[in-house]
Amino acid sequence: MRTISVINQKGGCGKTTVAINLAAAFGEMDKKVLLVDLDPQSHASIGLDIVSEELDYNTYDLLINPRVRVEDAAFPIDERLSVVPSSAVLSAVEQELSGKPARETRLAAKLTRVSNDYDYAIIDSPPNVGLLTFNALIAASEVVIPLDPSFFSLQGLEKLRETLDLLEYETKHRIIVHVLATNVEKHTTFCRDIIYELENQHGGVLMDTIISHSVRYKEAALRGVSIFGMKRVERLKNEFLSLAREIDNKVSVIDTEDVDGWMLRLHGPRRVEEGILFVIDAPNAKTVHLTGEFTNWSREGLKMERDEKDGIWKALLHLDSGEYEYRFIVDGVWIKDPANVDSVLNEFGQENSLLIV
Ligand SMILES: Nc1ncnc2c1ncn2[C@@H]1O[C@H](COP(=O)(O)OP(=O)(O)O)[C@@H](O)[C@H]1O
Ligand SMILES: [Mg+2]
Repeated sequence: MRTISVINQKGGCGKTTVAINLAAAFGEMDKKVLLVDLDPQSHASIGLDIVSEELDYNTYDLLINPRVRVEDAAFPIDERLSVVPSSAVLSAVEQELSGKPARETRLAAKLTRVSNDYDYAIIDSPPNVGLLTFNALIAASEVVIPLDPSFFSLQGLEKLRETLDLLEYETKHRIIVHVLATNVEKHTTFCRDIIYELENQHGGVLMDTIISHSVRYKEAALRGVSIFGMKRVERLKNEFLSLAREIDNKVSVIDTEDVDGWMLRLHGPRRVEEGILFVIDAPNAKTVHLTGEFTNWSREGLKMERDEKDGIWKALLHLDSGEYEYRFIVDGVWIKDPANVDSVLNEFGQENSLLIV
């Protein structure tokens, strides 16, 4: 799965329009797509006619409740596109998670568990750089930054790219940047000048596709459909198909192994083809064992092996669907999984890591 966050600290520059229509365009290309609405204003949900109040879960639950899985919160629009809707309560997340561990990696942790179920996850983010946007960034391997020439400043784009560089420096999490000119009145010299300037300064990351200004985009959102649900808008459908293809073709330049390695270190157990892979980064350990409900909490546990290539301790288990509590035994010391944010208190008042398969 490739995860793409649509970000820009400015409101009204076209993030939600791009998120909805890019997700729908990937669907048209027969890809399995998950659209995650991470903006408390819920415009992406509303724009696809989803009333989150009528559903059991939304992105708020996904970030706050360890037992809520993407599958529980995803609402299917059609066979290819599902949406995790947002709700106004999402704005409380920042305060509720303040001081809590792994605040920024909650969305990433949930999404890695469905990485085999979708080809693309598209995240629509809010217009400010807070905890929600950080969750969107940490979860993403790529970002699309929409720029609306009628009121964009190249300074804003520079700032945003600096923020991304800083994030990469601090977390070693590499994010590929795509800058997308949107809401462009292609025939005006003003727009042409700005695109020329963009090419000069950000040519390496500027998408060839340009999204034009058209009131039909707004009309589609008001009707609760993507542009692919509208009649007589072939030109606009082609714009988004061309964007989706352009992104899809860039797959070869993306070092997915890089992303996977980083994810492994951060998110604990994950589903792989052969089963569930438990991992722990314990560079100085001599022995590491895994114990839990699946070994009846035996003191021996299962011996983990150190991978010569990346130095990470690994164990592969076959587990049926269900909830499992577990701990690692590192050189004889029982610890919870440092990379897994989900945990429950055991009868001794210590934390067991919780895995939901
Ligand atoms: N290409 C476009 N042509 C015309 N209107 C657009 C276009 N893109 C976005 N809009 C309109 O501009 C407004 C803001 O867009 P939106 O996608 O909600 O931005 P953001 O999510 O960044 O706040 C909406 O009313 C939307 O319908
Ligand atoms: Mg929006």
